[in-house]
Amino acid sequence: MASVSVDEAMRRAIALAARGLGATSPNPVVGCVLLDADGEVAGEGFHAYAGGPHAEIVALAQAGRRARGGTAVVTLEPCDHTGRTGPCSHALIAAGVARVVVAVPDPNPVASGGAATLRAAGIQVELGVRAEEAEAGNVAWLTSMRRGWPYVIWKYAATLDGRSAAADGTSMWITSEAARIDVHALRGTVDAVIAGVGTVLADDPRLTARNLRDGTLAIRQPLRVVVDSSGRTPAEARVRDGAARTWVATAAEVGAGRDGRVDLAALLAELHHRGVRAALLEGGPTLAGAFLAAGLVDKIVGYVAPKLLGAGPTALLDAGVTTIADAIDLELTDVTQVGPDLRITALPRKREA
Ligand SMILES: NC(=O)c1ccc[n+]([C@@H]2O[C@H](COP(=O)([O-])OP(=O)(O)OC[C@H]3O[C@@H](n4cnc5c(N)ncnc54)[C@H](OP(=O)(O)O)[C@@H]3O)[C@@H](O)[C@H]2O)c1
Repeated sequence: MASVSVDEAMRRAIALAARGLGATSPNPVVGCVLLDADGEVAGEGFHAYAGGPHAEIVALAQAGRRARGGTAVVTLEPCDHTGRTGPCSHALIAAGVARVVVAVPDPNPVASGGAATLRAAGIQVELGVRAEEAEAGNVAWLTSMRRGWPYVIWKYAATLDGRSAAADGTSMWITSEAARIDVHALRGTVDAVIAGVGTVLADDPRLTARNLRDGTLAIRQPLRVVVDSSGRTPAEARVRDGAARTWVATAAEVGAGRDGRVDLAALLAELHHRGVRAALLEGGPTLAGAFLAAGLVDKIVGYVAPKLLGAGPTALLDAGVTTIADAIDLELTDVTQVGPDLRITALPRKREA
C-alpha cells in the first residue's frame, strides 16, 4: 500500500468525522486516521454515537501493533479525561504512537489537555492542520462549547415574495415534498427543534424527524421546544404526543425578558445545560424576529418556493430593524435547488457593537 501524506490523512479524517453528524451530541464529531511508521494507513475511525468508542480508539483497534511508531491524525485534540470511555491520550501513549497531528484544539475544559499529556510522554504533537475545514465540520459543537449556548439555525419556508402563508392563513404546503424531506434530514442533525406557541396554536405541528412518505420516526429525535411564555400549549397538541421528548418552556420556568416573554438567552443557556449543542429554530415569524433581534441566530436556511402570493403574513416579523442602515446583512454560503424550490443558506454578519 502507498504511503499517505498527513494532509491527505487529515482530509480523510474530516470526511470520516462527518459520518457522526447528528448522532454524537453532546459530544463532538471526530475522525481519526492512523498511519504506521511507513506512512501507510493502518486504521481509521470516527465517533459514531455518544457513549460509543472515540475515533482514536476505533482506529487504534484496527491498527493493532502497526500503531507503534506511527502517526495518529485526528480532527480534534484527543481527550484527556475519563467520561463514559477512558482518555484517548493514554490509549495513544500505550499504543506507542510517535506523533499526533491535530486539526483543532479541544475547547471543552473538562476534556482538554490531551496535547500536553501526549507531549509529556515524549510524543511529537502538531496542532492546526486543515483547522479551518475541520472547524467547519464541527462548527455547531465548537461554537456552543466556546460560548455556552447552542448553535442556532433558523429555518423557514416562503414564497418568492417572502410570504409564509396566504391572506386567509392557509400555508400548507408552500414548499415541495422534496424541500420538506430536506427539512426532516436537517432535523435529524440537531439536538432540539424550537417553535413559538403561535406556530403550535396555528398549525399543530409534530416537530419530529420522520420519513415523510410512511411516517416512520427517525431513531434519534431532537428535543421539541415550545417557547410559550404563559403555558398556552394545549394538552392535546401534537407536540405532546409522546413521539419525542418535549419541553414547553414558560417564562415562569426560564425567566422573563423585559417584554415579559420568555428570556431567549436564558432559554438557550438552559438548553446548553441540557446537552443541546445545535438547535433548529422553526419559527414562526414572531419568534424568529426576536431571535434575530437578539443576535442569537448563527445560520439561516431558507426554502424559497417559485410561487407568489402578493398578500399574507411574511416569513419574518419585527427583527429590531427600522431603517435600511440597520438591515441584517447576510453572507450567502450556498444556493441549491431542492425539487422545484431553492434552499438558500446564509450566515448573519456580525454587527459592530
Ligand atoms: N413559513 C414558515 O417557515 C413558518 C414557520 C413556522 C410558522 N409559520 C407560520 O407562522 C404563523 C404563526 O406565527 P407567530 O408569529 O404567531 O408564531 P411563533 O413565532 O411561532 O410564536 C410567537 C409566540 O411565541 C411566544 N414567545 C415566547 N417568548 C417569546 C419571545 N421572547 N419573543 C417572541 N415570541 C415569544 C409569544 O407568545 P407568548 O408571549 O404567549 O408566549 C409569541 O406570540 C403560523 O401561521 C405558521 O403557519 C411559518
